[in-house]
Amino acid sequence: MADAEDLKRRAAARALEYVTDGMRLGLGTGSTAKHFVALLAERVAGGLKVVGVPTSEQTKAQALSLGVPLATLDEQPELDLCIDGADEIGPGLALIKGGGGALLREKIVASAAREMIVIADETKLVGTLGVFPLPIEIVTFGVVATTRRLESAIAAAGCAGELRLRHTKDGKPFVTDQGNVIVDAHLGQIADPRRLARAVEEVAGVVEHGLFLGLARRAVLAGADGIRVLED
Ligand code: A5P
Repeated sequence: MADAEDLKRRAAARALEYVTDGMRLGLGTGSTAKHFVALLAERVAGGLKVVGVPTSEQTKAQALSLGVPLATLDEQPELDLCIDGADEIGPGLALIKGGGGALLREKIVASAAREMIVIADETKLVGTLGVFPLPIEIVTFGVVATTRRLESAIAAAGCAGELRLRHTKDGKPFVTDQGNVIVDAHLGQIADPRRLARAVEEVAGVVEHGLFLGLARRAVLAGADGIRVLED
């Protein structure tokens, strides 16, 4: 039976079929996106011409080490396709992203692309978003005050749960590539993602959140029975 890494690689391989010569690609972050970058590098070595805009320092380092040509988003502000993983995929291809902490650049890059394809093993597919904690990136100034305001905003949007500042394994606050910190909202379920997104966006100090709504139009999901492509 295929293990989780195998399924992630299969989804990544299938998504590679949407990549054509000359494309400007957004390159996602995370363990599934890592498979995609590795497979893309093989195609580049075989002569495929693409340029990638990475969504994190981690992906940048991997792509550079494998010889995938890169550009910054300022050099390539319009992308043909962005391929990235997700932590949860809900109805309408609404996503929770940011488990790896790269949500801000991921959302900017996905928004700059004509199309976003999500790649995942099928365990990421859920009926209701929210079991995976929602990452919210906030500035380092006033973390306690911002977190309190977030708690109120989230409750007013009909959700309940605990907010926790994300830490690294050695106990320090996790700092994003943009120098911010992340509060993870453990909500259990998000009945109305749009309402929650609006409420969170109104809180001063919030830079971005991990709800990706209306961005992905296609999801490539790998499971024990094969690959499924969902389209919205
Ligand atoms: C990174 O910040 C995340 O948004 C990842 O894309 C997401 O967490 C999926 O990661 P995996 O492919 O490792 O599950």
